[in-house]
Amino acid sequence: QINSAVEVVLFGALGDLSRRKLLPALYQLDLAGLLHEETRIVGVARQDQSNSDFINFTKENLTNFVSEGLDEVAYERFLSRLVYQKLDFKETDSYSALAKTLANGNDERIYYYSTPPAIYGDITEGLFNAGLINDSDRVVMEKPIGHCLESSKVINNMVSSHFEENQIYRIDHYLGKETVLNLLVLRFANSLFTNNWDRNYIDHVQITVAESVGIEGRWGFYDEAGQMRDMVQNHLLQILSLLAMEPPADLSADSIRDEKLKVIKALVPITRQNVKEKTVRGQYSEGFLGGNGVPGYLEEEGANKTSNTETFVAIKAEIDNWRWTGVPFYLRTGKRMPAKHSEIVIHFKEQPHNIFKDSYVDLPANKLTIRLQPDEGVELEVMNKIPGIASQMNIHENKLDLSFSETYENERVVDAYERLMLEVINGNQSLFVRRDEVEAAWSWADSIIDAWQASNEKPKAYAAGSWGPVSSISLIARDDRQWVE
Ligand code: BG6
Repeated sequence: QINSAVEVVLFGALGDLSRRKLLPALYQLDLAGLLHEETRIVGVARQDQSNSDFINFTKENLTNFVSEGLDEVAYERFLSRLVYQKLDFKETDSYSALAKTLANGNDERIYYYSTPPAIYGDITEGLFNAGLINDSDRVVMEKPIGHCLESSKVINNMVSSHFEENQIYRIDHYLGKETVLNLLVLRFANSLFTNNWDRNYIDHVQITVAESVGIEGRWGFYDEAGQMRDMVQNHLLQILSLLAMEPPADLSADSIRDEKLKVIKALVPITRQNVKEKTVRGQYSEGFLGGNGVPGYLEEEGANKTSNTETFVAIKAEIDNWRWTGVPFYLRTGKRMPAKHSEIVIHFKEQPHNIFKDSYVDLPANKLTIRLQPDEGVELEVMNKIPGIASQMNIHENKLDLSFSETYENERVVDAYERLMLEVINGNQSLFVRRDEVEAAWSWADSIIDAWQASNEKPKAYAAGSWGPVSSISLIARDDRQWVE
């Protein structure tokens, strides 16, 4: 079903996110017939260029980033929607040119801020001064929203001074991933899991979000943030809160967000007193990936050789509430790890007694693995009898494996940005992060960052292509557990 015609206004239209994700996502929506015929896409950036330059730019990027190849009709239709507007974002009085361009278009607008967050306030002010904010407009903000709780409040206050909370869509693109959304279905559409999802049945949980890429030419930006602000404060905490939340009353935006917020608020603070025991920060040194030598973080292009920024984090997180007290959630995420590999592993508790001792001395506990990416799927490890006549029961650990690519081989896995863009057009905020969630997440992350700074310790080195510093193995081994490789 196609909604009313909207004007999609992309600030930072010539930037990396726009090229790789936003323009291709909008094209895919157009291809699927989900954009109204009058919807226009207005690219806004500082550079002085014409509409046809913007069209050429879009052509090149669609060719590069739409992997299935382009449909001629949809492609032409999509290109005809494009309009370009040059704008100096900081000149908040110069938005009249944009107002002129928008005057010829649709009344309902989606302002997508894909610029450094420090100028979200300026853009909002400029739009407001030019009379470009109406009740039906929406604004989409990319992460990171701030650098800490205080700076996120400043940005949120500036944007909120002219947009209501129900007009603000804070993106965490992990919430648009198929497998992350499937957590809701897995948990709340299967009584097998719904009824066993707590401290009585679950021993611990591991969440790994590993990437093989390094800093990819954005050293300066990344160095200011580090893996804690870049990945943990947002993506990992969002996954954690969907995994651990109470059943929401329904799928409405606030029902889901209320429950996620409660989880983040119940996270036990990690402080200067226990930061060493509960966290590990690492920084990659030179190593090998796919058989090729790769430089260390401090040898990357543009690097400041003395940087102490972490590229790897492992945390033992605990949630202090009725459902989860005593169940650790071990999180780890890093750059330059052996592969792009993200998964959640739920370790159920062991059987109280083993009647199969003769063939299996230590009965392993069941494990549920949710493969987030790549090779999306769900896998349950169960014990099974090996067929055979022997009187002794031979039993063995095996897997029930639901691979998405095999089970749904004719379905295209949509990119997170396609889904999220469509949700914004449809005006549904369920998959976007509410202000109080962002702030609660910052508050927990800030305490860890503060403790790291106070300890004055350098991050631990790990070779590129490895699973992180040795101390991340000790973090979990101290509890007699180990990471699933
Ligand atoms: C972004 C981070 O939010 O997520 C990047 O800023 C990271 O550093 C990226 O590489 C990972 O996203 P995905 O979808 O490739 O897992």
